[in-house]
Amino acid sequence: MVTGHADVTAVLRDPATFSSAVVPRVPPRDRARLAGFTDWSARWLFFQDPPEHSVRRAPVSRALSPRTVSGLAPSIDDLALRLAARLPAAGFDVLLDYAHPLAARVVAGLLCRPGPETEAFLARARALERADADARDPAAREAGLTAMAEATQAVRDQLASGARLAPVPAHLRAAWPGDDDTAGAHSLMLLFAGVETTQNLVANAVHLLLLDASRWPALTPATLAGTVEEATRLAPPVLGVLRRATRETALSGVPVAAGAELVVMTAAANRDPARFPDPERFDPSRSPNPHLSFGLGPHYCPGAALTRLTAQAALTALRARFPRLSLDGPVTWRAHDPIVHAPTSLPVRAGPGPAGG
Ligand code: HEM
Repeated sequence: MVTGHADVTAVLRDPATFSSAVVPRVPPRDRARLAGFTDWSARWLFFQDPPEHSVRRAPVSRALSPRTVSGLAPSIDDLALRLAARLPAAGFDVLLDYAHPLAARVVAGLLCRPGPETEAFLARARALERADADARDPAAREAGLTAMAEATQAVRDQLASGARLAPVPAHLRAAWPGDDDTAGAHSLMLLFAGVETTQNLVANAVHLLLLDASRWPALTPATLAGTVEEATRLAPPVLGVLRRATRETALSGVPVAAGAELVVMTAAANRDPARFPDPERFDPSRSPNPHLSFGLGPHYCPGAALTRLTAQAALTALRARFPRLSLDGPVTWRAHDPIVHAPTSLPVRAGPGPAGG
């Protein structure tokens, strides 16, 4: 396990020594059922190394380019305001009633035409979200597998029909003419990579802000960007990534054998006192804030700009709708998940909390 900021940085910047070709293993009993999914997920950017990686990444980066993303800003702001307006002051769940629909609609906006296609996408995204809550709960696990298989099949069916290929965006199809599998795999990747991460960042950020009575009122346009960065540092939805050493090497003097699998804990690096003064302190004015929650190097998250925009829109709209907001009952967290950090339920209500917050 790699935890220090300097070591994590070194690993992420050196794909020749630390390969990303570490596709998660599927237990034998699930292999047949998930074959359609794993065949595609193995093609995802996450698991590719240069030079193939650079070629495959280009169209995905274009789909999420700063220009595309800034063009989406007005509609994302508007969506957040509309979703926030519907939330009842008496109480609601930030994750299920707000963060999830917002994140799913933002990604649907990239992949789907309005109407039934979007609605089908949202239904699949919701099934995936609910299914992942507890990896050791057999019913949740079963629902998760079904949702993964169904989401894959839906994209495959559209490809096979030869008709309109959305939710495979046109630029992904154009990037891989004649290679529907690669285009389809990358469309599916955007669903998996984009919805859950963004919704979880929004929920984690709201939770962090409500933990201390002074934080929610202090959220203003001036502190917004710094607040999102600091929440991304302290409460990242993705705790780490995997790499495999391609040769014998060493990190901070610790030998690493060729072939060793490394769990690279970006969340731990974000709290390294050697890099962040007073690392446990929530400080929206922290500058610089070189957190590694979106990774670094050639695999740096191409969705980071979209996520920042969405999280900022989410907090702005929620803060405007509820100048006072407090936790309302127990927050439940995803259990037994070493990589994804998020609540499964985040109940809140308008008004100050028991301590007057
Ligand atoms: C809070 C939200 C997000 C977080 C914390 C996050 C985190 C990450 C991290 C840590 C990586 C690097 C993986 C590695 O190095 O192995 C990554 C890659 C990636 N992310 Fe995100 N992500 C977020 C949102 C999104 C969104 C909204 C999208 C797309 C709509 C997206 C698409 C991707 C893709 C396609 C990659 C693979 C890039 C590559 O391997 O070259 N992410 N993300």
